[in-house]
Amino acid sequence: MATKSVLVLLLVAAATTFAQKQCCYPIQFEGSWGSIIAQVQAGQAMTQTYGFQFAYDYTNRRLGAITYKEDLGVMTKFQYIFEYSQGVEYDIQVKPQISSCVKRTLNATIAHCIPASATYLGSSYYGDHKLNVDFFQYFRSMGPSNYANVTVTVSQGDCIPFSVVNEGKSNGVPTLEIRGYVNYTSGISDPSKYFTVPSVCQSSNHETPKMQTSPFDKILP
Ligand SMILES: *[C@@H]1O[C@H](CO)[C@@H](O)[C@H](O)[C@H]1NC(C)=O
Ligand SMILES: *[C@@H]1O[C@H](CO)[C@@H](O)[C@H](O)[C@H]1NC(C)=O
Ligand SMILES: *[C@@H]1O[C@H](CO)[C@@H](O)[C@H](O)[C@H]1NC(C)=O
Repeated sequence: MATKSVLVLLLVAAATTFAQKQCCYPIQFEGSWGSIIAQVQAGQAMTQTYGFQFAYDYTNRRLGAITYKEDLGVMTKFQYIFEYSQGVEYDIQVKPQISSCVKRTLNATIAHCIPASATYLGSSYYGDHKLNVDFFQYFRSMGPSNYANVTVTVSQGDCIPFSVVNEGKSNGVPTLEIRGYVNYTSGISDPSKYFTVPSVCQSSNHETPKMQTSPFDKILP
């Protein structure tokens, strides 16, 4: 009898440990992510690397990301602003002399949680029990030429993105993206850094519909 109760308790404990909830990300935070994207185009393999600082603002349904690239001694700032509630996206380039802005229609909702369709794969830890993480996997499809098998890792409990692997097709091209998130800080210390739309976007009243998904579509998994 006693043995049976212990066994039942163990089974219940095992069941609760295993049934990890599809958690939701913090409401507002900043961080950086780096990614490597490998693609096969016309039989040729190619890779690209990206590094971005970003701000995630679920309260105001917006995302911002900034990166800098130097080319032939000229530093260019690339900035992306996704205003989900307004349905617009701004792709901004700032160079010492010239700036440009493309305003696009954004028909999407901001991600906030690991999707309900995700399967919990298991948990692991990094370092000497420094970080416990949960692994989830799901399939995301935006049509026959844009889909991905997504494996996402988040910190256990607070649900801060740690890594993402996207394996699938991007505009029909076989694509593998591996992404890591670092330097989380809670809240957004200076929202204007990410979300103030520069004047160059007002003058260019271009509204180009989004034709293709960019690697920046999904700042969060
Ligand atoms: C926006 O997306 C939804 C869901 O994918 C779709 O049903 C709708 O037609 C889209 N609207 C526009 C204006 O493209
Ligand atoms: C996603 O990838 C995993 C590992 O490669 C595989 O086991 C799983 O079947 C894939 N899921 C889908 C929907 O393709
Ligand atoms: C992360 O933070 C450390 C310490 O503040 C800083 O030195 C490093 O440059 C940051 N990394 C990125 C990718 O922002």
